[in-house]
Amino acid sequence: MKRVVDVQLGARSYPVSIAPGLLDDANTIAATVGGRHALIVSNEVVAPLALARVQQALSAKSVATVVLPDGEVQKSLASADRLFAALAKMGASRDATLVALGGGVIGDLTGFAAALWMRGVPFVQIPTTLLAMVDSSVGGKTAVNLAQGKNLVGAFHQPRAVLIDPDMLASLPKRELRAGFAEVVKYGAIGDHAFFAWLEHHAEALLMLKPDSTAEAIERSVRHKAGVVARDEREDGERALLNFGHTFGHAIETLGEYRGLNHGEAVAVGMVLAAELSARLGMAPSADHDRLNDLLVRLGLPTRIPPGYAADKLLDAMRLDKKALSGQLRLILWRGIGRAEVVSAVPDAKILETLKAGGAL
Ligand code: NAD
Ligand code: GLY
Repeated sequence: MKRVVDVQLGARSYPVSIAPGLLDDANTIAATVGGRHALIVSNEVVAPLALARVQQALSAKSVATVVLPDGEVQKSLASADRLFAALAKMGASRDATLVALGGGVIGDLTGFAAALWMRGVPFVQIPTTLLAMVDSSVGGKTAVNLAQGKNLVGAFHQPRAVLIDPDMLASLPKRELRAGFAEVVKYGAIGDHAFFAWLEHHAEALLMLKPDSTAEAIERSVRHKAGVVARDEREDGERALLNFGHTFGHAIETLGEYRGLNHGEAVAVGMVLAAELSARLGMAPSADHDRLNDLLVRLGLPTRIPPGYAADKLLDAMRLDKKALSGQLRLILWRGIGRAEVVSAVPDAKILETLKAGGAL
């Protein structure tokens, strides 16, 4: 069964198609990728799994391929330069379409290059990690990293279409799969109580990648994100709620120098800390914190800060978060499952208490 979610952005609207086996559907891939030239971008891990099928589907066009090494370090201006060189070499003009075949690293980089080539050409996302399927491929945030920080250079540039084949998840390392589930849980936590309850009923099926449950979880996550993006494309308001758990999480990632918890794991801990802080501020019932904690544990995710992290250092790192305006920390907290909101002026003492209760020194 094919599921389709539309991201409604007027003339820039696009479909997100979700179907097991979609990568074997050459006609759909060919019909989705327009233009005379196509540049497929992938990496050394994903290419052996799927590149031949995409190349075959696009064989009627002039096609070039760039296969990058694996890793976040590839989300760089140097990699974008490689894509521009490949486009120039194939004689691509504005009738080129870029195709991102990979996880969020490949998707963000390819979208960035598409935003810049000839002042903007179309691109299609074929996400192959759970995180990319439910989050990064939808919504048009594209970026590369600089030595000074992550995602510092980027553009909003919406894809023309997103093609999701959940069968790709079978080869994903289990740790990456669990990290993706943190973002899935986030959608229920911030805005959809019924989805949260559904996840509680299907946690084990999801970990086993049961096809119906997996496709349903992806569709409901994408539907949630599509709604938020349609209402607030540029993050002037509601879109900030998608960062639930992220301010705490980024601080944990930063202090761990990106070698400790991965992003999804840090977000899982961060969401539990946000729920804990909400309870301490009297905003939300602690029973909802416990439900969130339990669901994340069942999905194999950490919910406590790893040993050795100092609370004051974490708070310092939180202050450097992108959402801090004029030096004031803005946090995404909740009133309970499904009801997140932006909160400013939270006393430092409450944040420090929360961090210590969550395992910080
Ligand atoms: P990733 O792209 O590095 O993929 C994770 C790992 O899985 C890599 O080793 C990759 O090669 C491998 N992989 C990918 N697909 C596979 C498959 N089907 N089978 C086996 N291995 C596979 O990481 P990610 O978690 O997908 O994305 C993280 C990136 O996304 C970060 O750069 C982050 O900043 C970005 N991001 C962007 C947005 C956005 O809105 N644009 C949102 C969230 C995250
Ligand atoms: N991943 C957060 C956003 O797309 O806004």
